[in-house]
Amino acid sequence: MKASRGSLKVKGVAKSFALPQGDLRVLERIDLEVGPGEFVALVGKSGCGKSTLLRLIGGLEAATEGEILLREKRITGPGLERGMVFQEPRLFPWMTTRENIAFGLRDSTEKREAGETVEKYLALVGLAGFGDAYPHQLSGGMQQRAALARALVSRPEVLLLDEPFGALDALTRIQMQLEIQRIWRESRGTVLLVTHDIDEAVFLGDRVAVMSEGPGTLRKIIPVPLSRPRDRSSASFVKIRKKIYNEFFNSSRKIKGV
Ligand SMILES: Nc1ncnc2c1ncn2[C@@H]1O[C@H](COP(=O)(O)OP(=O)(O)O)[C@@H](O)[C@H]1O
Ligand SMILES: [Mg+2]
Repeated sequence: MKASRGSLKVKGVAKSFALPQGDLRVLERIDLEVGPGEFVALVGKSGCGKSTLLRLIGGLEAATEGEILLREKRITGPGLERGMVFQEPRLFPWMTTRENIAFGLRDSTEKREAGETVEKYLALVGLAGFGDAYPHQLSGGMQQRAALARALVSRPEVLLLDEPFGALDALTRIQMQLEIQRIWRESRGTVLLVTHDIDEAVFLGDRVAVMSEGPGTLRKIIPVPLSRPRDRSSASFVKIRKKIYNEFFNSSRKIKGV
């Protein structure tokens, strides 16, 4: 079987944390396949294990059970073929934007020859002309763009986004959603986006994976068969959004007006 670039498989994954009072089971029986170039949004309540799942895929934590495969190869640690962006930009304050982005490159040779590549990614995220600025000179949205460029500069197979727009104001957030959509279409990479914003999930995802809590399991995966760019006020959009909202509640307690 041909192992495709950006093909991600989470197989029977469980995760427990050892705490003084005993093991805390955070994830249970997670099975998820994300195809090459697919955009999957992962939604769930705070504390249900979304970040933990992303950290497992990022190789920042090890699964207690099961395995995660990228291009049919088991993930055992972090790697530049998986780019991560978090809620906070996590830029180095003593480095310029250009230096922060170059930090995402593989080795020192690549870094030395990075000039053009970095300029390209600065432009891609809309920061052309800000290469010499330090993080404190950038707005929150611009810092998040720089963090995105740092994750993209090594041309990752998979982009792992953990509520990357969560700290931004509503308008900047919508702008960033459009940007990430454009960048994704240009790079054709695989994206897994964690969000607690159902609207954002339906706007961006090819599929929306809904998690439930205690321990976190994948409750349902809902396809979003709408062409892009999507109209948030269209009847078909609203219908899918409603379906996902209702996944969070008992069918007997369906909420009205969403
Ligand atoms: N390193 C850790 N040690 C112990 N417990 C953790 C650790 N990381 C996360 N948890 C716990 O796992 C649960 C899920 O956390 P998290 O994955 O951050 O959820 P989410 O991102 O969905 O809000 C929470 O109860 C959290 O306290
Ligand atoms: Mg989280």
